[in-house]
Amino acid sequence: MSQPESEARFASRETDAADMRAIQEFLDEALVSEVLNVIKSGKEATVYRCRADPSLGVDFAAAKVYHSANHRSFQRSAVYEEGRQFGPGQVQRAIKNRSEFGREAQLAFWVEHEFEVLSALHYAGADVPAPFACTEKAILMEFVGDEDGDSPQLQYARFADGEAEKVLERILWNIELMVRENVVHGDLSAFNMLYHEGQVRIIDFPQAVDPRKNSSARDLLQRDISNVVEFFQRRRAGLEREPERMARNLWNLWKYGEV
Ligand SMILES: Nc1ncnc2c1ncn2[C@@H]1O[C@H](COP(=O)(O)OP(=O)(O)O)[C@@H](O)[C@H]1O
Ligand SMILES: [Mg+2]
Repeated sequence: MSQPESEARFASRETDAADMRAIQEFLDEALVSEVLNVIKSGKEATVYRCRADPSLGVDFAAAKVYHSANHRSFQRSAVYEEGRQFGPGQVQRAIKNRSEFGREAQLAFWVEHEFEVLSALHYAGADVPAPFACTEKAILMEFVGDEDGDSPQLQYARFADGEAEKVLERILWNIELMVRENVVHGDLSAFNMLYHEGQVRIIDFPQAVDPRKNSSARDLLQRDISNVVEFFQRRRAGLEREPERMARNLWNLWKYGEV
C-alpha cells in the first residue's frame, strides 16, 4: 500500500510514529509544510524543526511533542499542579486514579498549560518564542535559531567581554516581568534558555506556577533566581548579586502589587 500523500512530506527518518501523528495535525492545518529534523530529544519531549507555512511569517517553526503519558513520570508534579484546574470531576477522578485515560488527560493539561503561559508571556513582551498552536500532545512555536541551526542552550554560551553582565541583566528583567504576569518558571536554568549573539530566549514552561495559587511559588522563585545568578557567577559575572535578597525583594514587590 502506498503512503498517504501527507505522510510522504516527512523528510526525516529519525522521527517516531507517535510523534508524527502529533505533528500531522499541524500539517493538516497547513501551519507547517514539512518536518525537517529533530532538534533535541529530552526527558519530557522531542522537539522537531519544521518548515513553517508563509502565513506564520517565519521560515521555521519548532514542534515540541510530549512523550506519551506512559513514558513520563508525574511523581514530582504535585508541587506544580497545586492551584491548577483539571476539568470536570470525572476527569479529575481519572487523573487521581492514574488510569490510562487519566494520564493522557493530565498530559494534555500540562501541554495546554505550557501553551497558555507561553502565550501570556509573549503577549506581555517577554523573551520567549512566539506560540502558534497547541494540540493535546504538542506545541508549535517559533523556532529559535537561524538557517544554520538552533540556538544553543545558554549552558554552552561563550560571552565576549562585558556581555555576560548584560545577558544576566536581561534574564533578571524577564524574571521580573514574568512575576508581574503571575508566572514563576519553576525550572529556570541554563538548559532552559537558548542564547545566540546576545539574544536570550526562555523556554520550557509546563511546570510554571501562579504565585496567587501555588504555595511553593516563593521557593521556586528563589531557586530560579539562584540558578541563574550562580550560573553567571561561575563565569565571573554578577558577583555582587545576592540571589536570596533579590528573591525576597521581588516577592515582596509582587505581594504588594508593586512589581
Ligand atoms: N522553540 C525552540 N527553538 C529551538 N530549539 C528549541 C525550541 N524549543 C525547544 N528547543 C530545544 O529542545 C530542547 C528541549 O526543549 P524543552 O522545552 O526544554 O523540553 P524538555 O527539557 O522538557 O525536554 C531545548 O533545550 C532546546 O535545545
Ligand atoms: Mg528543558
